[in-house]
Amino acid sequence: MTELLRAPLFHTPRNPFLQDRGLESHWDGGLLISDGRVAAAGDYQAIRAANPNATTTDLRGGFLLPGLIDTHIHFPQLRVLGGLSRSLLDWLEECALPEEVRMADESHARGIARRFIHALASHGTTTAMVFGAHFAPATAALFEAAGKSGLRIIAGMVLSDRRLRPELHQTPDGAYRDSSELIRCFHGRGRLFYAVTPRFAFSTSEAMLEVCQTLLREHEGLRLQTHLNENAREITEVAKLFPWASDYLAVYERFGLAGRGTVMAHNVHPTVSEIERLAASGTAVAHCPSSNAALGSGLFAMKRHVKAGVRVALGTDVGGGTGFGLLKEALQAYLLQRVAPDGALLDAAQMLYLATRAGAEALGTENEIGDLQPGKAADVVYIRPPADTPLSAVLERVETPEQALAAIFTLAGAESIQEVRVEGSVVYRQTAGGPHL
Ligand code: GUN
Ligand code: ZN
Repeated sequence: MTELLRAPLFHTPRNPFLQDRGLESHWDGGLLISDGRVAAAGDYQAIRAANPNATTTDLRGGFLLPGLIDTHIHFPQLRVLGGLSRSLLDWLEECALPEEVRMADESHARGIARRFIHALASHGTTTAMVFGAHFAPATAALFEAAGKSGLRIIAGMVLSDRRLRPELHQTPDGAYRDSSELIRCFHGRGRLFYAVTPRFAFSTSEAMLEVCQTLLREHEGLRLQTHLNENAREITEVAKLFPWASDYLAVYERFGLAGRGTVMAHNVHPTVSEIERLAASGTAVAHCPSSNAALGSGLFAMKRHVKAGVRVALGTDVGGGTGFGLLKEALQAYLLQRVAPDGALLDAAQMLYLATRAGAEALGTENEIGDLQPGKAADVVYIRPPADTPLSAVLERVETPEQALAAIFTLAGAESIQEVRVEGSVVYRQTAGGPHL
């Protein structure tokens, strides 16, 4: 089946941090989708002329972007969004962990999983790297809901054996058994993949980190996700727990957990050496600006990371962050860089790259997703603001693709996400009366 979508179309097949012409835009754009893949992306008239038999859907009035990619988010934290006025360790203790304990109840976990996956899709996110629960059945519930939705989800059971609360701790042996079973059930099943998920060095013993290393060695294609250098108190505690480590990253390196396929969230307080080693090993950093501001963690050194060649992508970090919207997250990255000492001045192309292709590169899936080049999977989000909204008014008068994109990043929320597709198939469509739950 071949379908031609007609609408202005924007994507970043080249990295706009490295090249001037990173943004590719087609004002009267056409996206030709054949068997779920992008067959052509470019000028509508030219594609139409070359494919006269394709069924055309006229989507003018809205905009087509690649599906958004969230590289850091916590499934059990949907209901703790809005827990403001605390710093990381107190927020964990008072807000996040009590809610995460509830994931022991499988039917509760199934309900949250359904709402969590729906929230991703309704905000235009087609791929996410997700912290599961500390419990295997709840993590399985997340994978099952993800499998039904058609979204691309990389997730794993969260591993910890100290300093959280006893209900959330596993033994290293139990963690190995449960993780192995989840990998067997879900890794590589359709669009689902497994990420080994030590919560952070603060809550994992050396024995637990060894289990992570063993799992990575035993299975092809696993990813790894964890937290790094988020908060000053956390960093001091980690230094006490691992006195042999020269810095925070060295803890993970000792167990072979850094490298391509690994995403470390935050890295707000890195040393010079850590940035160099992240770049050298190809380890990606999930930048979570809303969370960094909400928890008072600090300002991210975007320029230092980019200059050193570290792969940086975006994470919403629900529930330390402020919601599921990656467009808003890109805006927060822009705003915080604007006020950071020596901050980067981000443009709309860089914001789009951070929310799409950079995520694909961080997850090692850039050959499949992240932009709309021919041969890629047709993962797309169709953005069209409701009538009589500030965004619809702004878009009436914009004159350039950059202006349109900047307005979308500034003003578009879930109300403007009309349709979301993964591999050409609709995974979310807003219904007439508003988003469909
Ligand atoms: N570090 C360890 N766990 C968490 C978490 O749940 N959220 C954030 N922001 N940081 C963490
Ligand atoms: Zn996190």
